[in-house]
Amino acid sequence: MEIVKTIAEVRVQVKEWKKAGLSVGLVPTMGFLHEGHKSLIERAAKENDRVVVSDFVNPTQFGPTEDLASYPRDLERDAKLCEEAGASILFNPEVEEMYFDDRTTFVNMDGLTKELCGKSRPIHFQGVCTVVSKLFNIATPDRAYFGQKDAQQLAVIKRMVRDLNFDIEIVGCPIIREEDGLAKSSRNTYLSPEERKAAVILSQALKIGKELIEQGETSASKVKTAITEKINTEPLAKIDYVEVVDFNNIEPVENIGDSTLAAIAVYIGKTRLIDNFIIEK
Ligand code: PAF
Repeated sequence: MEIVKTIAEVRVQVKEWKKAGLSVGLVPTMGFLHEGHKSLIERAAKENDRVVVSDFVNPTQFGPTEDLASYPRDLERDAKLCEEAGASILFNPEVEEMYFDDRTTFVNMDGLTKELCGKSRPIHFQGVCTVVSKLFNIATPDRAYFGQKDAQQLAVIKRMVRDLNFDIEIVGCPIIREEDGLAKSSRNTYLSPEERKAAVILSQALKIGKELIEQGETSASKVKTAITEKINTEPLAKIDYVEVVDFNNIEPVENIGDSTLAAIAVYIGKTRLIDNFIIEK
């Protein structure tokens, strides 16, 4: 596996692969990789002849008071994990390689990006859609892989690909969890030992909501209430949102149906964590 820093290097390599008739998978990441990312890369390696992993902490998707400066980074560890998981190229550009200082073009989406995380992170999805579009244009993959943990991001990327006619298959991959149920996230490293214990409340609350639905509950508001009440039993937890929406358009639903997404964002101390489940009927 090669670590490359420039767009030109990725392009030359991908062109060679395509000339040889090889398929290309892309796994966009912000680095500090964990088992969740590894599962995406392994799946990409299984379904494509070559895999590009991007490792870029994208500044444009962080708000001014968010954790851009403290976001964890460890390229050496990332490279080892990528190699083990079957990546062909690790693309690790500097900010100056990805963005012109005088840039004036962005990818904006209405609707889906205004709800859930979009409410407390108003510029987040503009940054995500812009950088992911750039990565699509750089790596020109046949398939791109995203985790379901960022369910709204997955819905947004699917919509962007549809609306802008990117000829790329978007593959959503299951959430990977710690043994106690906490969804794997690079941000889990911010948690103190006490907060780490408290963070299990997210998956526990979602489990209650999911079980209610499995027992036949169809009211979205009752599921929301059950999830909210459970989270509120944890003194270190502060809810940002608990929502039940249609996964395809991120609009609130009254009744649980096909493709319903139950999504939560909860502060544990200062760390904002997200988790969710999707009902596929
Ligand atoms: O999910 C992430 O890590 C990021 O939002 C992504 C898709 C790599 C874009 O920077």
